[in-house]
Order: sequence, then structure tokens, then C-alpha cells
Amino acid sequence: MNKPQLRGDYSRAALDYSVEQDWPAYTAEEHALYRRLFERQSKLVPRYACPEWIAAISGLDAATQIPDFEQVSRKLRSRTGWQIVAVPGLIPDDAFFTHLANRRFPVTVWLRKPEEFDYIVEPDVFHDFFGHVPLLFDQVYADHLYEYGKGGLKAMRLDAVKMLARLYWYTIEFGLMKTKSGVKAYGAGLLSSGGELAYCVDDPRPHRLGFDLERMMRTGYLIDRYQATYFVIDSFEQLMRETAPDFTPIYARLRGLAPFAADAA
Ligand code: PHE
Ligand code: CO
Repeated sequence: MNKPQLRGDYSRAALDYSVEQDWPAYTAEEHALYRRLFERQSKLVPRYACPEWIAAISGLDAATQIPDFEQVSRKLRSRTGWQIVAVPGLIPDDAFFTHLANRRFPVTVWLRKPEEFDYIVEPDVFHDFFGHVPLLFDQVYADHLYEYGKGGLKAMRLDAVKMLARLYWYTIEFGLMKTKSGVKAYGAGLLSSGGELAYCVDDPRPHRLGFDLERMMRTGYLIDRYQATYFVIDSFEQLMRETAPDFTPIYARLRGLAPFAADAA
């Protein structure tokens, strides 16, 4: 995570990597680009997003301009005890896990450039906000992410962050959920994607496996193409339940096993 070429401005960050959002500094062009991103996804989410995400988004007043994090945090705090913390971009594992373990979700302050409309490698404010924040209004999801944060600090002590990060990738970023009206997306990387949101549900090519903790932990991933494998949960309750056991013996056992290739599940 500590890659030197990260594009955010880290010079003003506090020790926990938080910054001021400085909402008044966003330009009219940035708000307009955000609105275009929001409009594109709005055509897709009724069909492809999970019900928990859909239930939350309309209460957020986030359609027309880059949201003011503090306003949203006020709503979030009263609903699930979470808040948003502004960050310059990706942050080191220990800072990230510590925020989650204190019910603070780090959201990147900067917005992508117009030429990155379709695709961006690093998370920006649109991905972080649109993809992740609505689900923090769901108590089970929010509680799970809090447990994940504590689990991350523990995984650091056990030198198992890579395995835990894969679990995050295949659930929080690219997870699918089975619902009464079909398979839907809850992963933030899907919800904020112009192309993969329909692909992950409709395309016959990718594998769609049921929840399989050990398989997720053993499956590498590629950040620059659509996923070859998605894991489908039944509910956030299932996600909570399946991740509740102590991972210590699981990490110890999986460490010796060969990984599954990202593109060959
Ligand atoms: N149960 C995990 C552990 O013991 C922690 C965890 C919880 C990890 C929820 C991910 C999600 O390490
Ligand atoms: Co994300």
C-alpha cells in the first residue's frame, strides 16, 4: 500500500493519515465530472446493486455534487456509529485497519481526471464514496467491517495481511450476493464500475462460486481487468458468520499451500 508513486497529497496528512476534505476547494468541473459518474452508475444500480445499497443511496443526497463528508458522517453516526475520515489516497495497512477498528471509513478526497472516466487504478472519491459509504448504513455490513479492521490488526501480528487482503478483495470490493431477484453486486469495485457492474452479473464467462473463505484467501487477484472469479454470499449475516471464527489456525494451514491463480479458478 505504501507505494511511492501514489498521486494524493500526503504532505498535510496527520499521523493517522487523515486530512481536511476542504470541500470548498472542489471546482465546478470536478462536481460536474462526479455528477456524470453518478448518472452513469444510476442507470445500472437499480438492476445490479444489492438491496442494502439501494436502500441507503437515496438518503445521501449525493447525486449532484461531491458530497460533504461531515454531513454524511452525521447521518452515519446516528445510524450505525460509523463516520467518514478524509484521506489523501491509499494509506498503510496499520492506519487503514486502525480506522476501521474505530468505525471510521477512509475516503479519498481527490476525484479522477476526465480521461479516467471509465477506468482508474487507485481509488478516488467516487469509488470510495459511491461504492463503500452507502453500505455502511447497513448495521450487519458495518459491524462486519469493524470486525475486519480488528482482524486486520491481528493479521499484521500474524504476518497474514496478504491472505486477509484477498478476502477483502473478493467480498468488500468484488463481492456478489444472492437475492430473491437474482444475483446482485455489493462489492464497491463493482458498484462504482461502468463496465464490470453489468459484466459481473450478466456475463457467462466469469466463475461464480459460493462463499469459500479458504479459497478466497488463496486466490490472487489482478487489479487491471475484470475478475475471473466472483464469490457469491447469501447475505451479510452469512459474511459475518463465516468470518467470525479465529483465523489464526487457518492462516497457519494456508500459508504452506499453493495459491490459486487469479485467472484460473
Ligand atoms: N475472525 C477473524 C480473525 O480471527 C477476523 C475477521 C473478522 C476477519 C471479520 C475478517 C472479517 O482473524
Ligand atoms: Co474500495
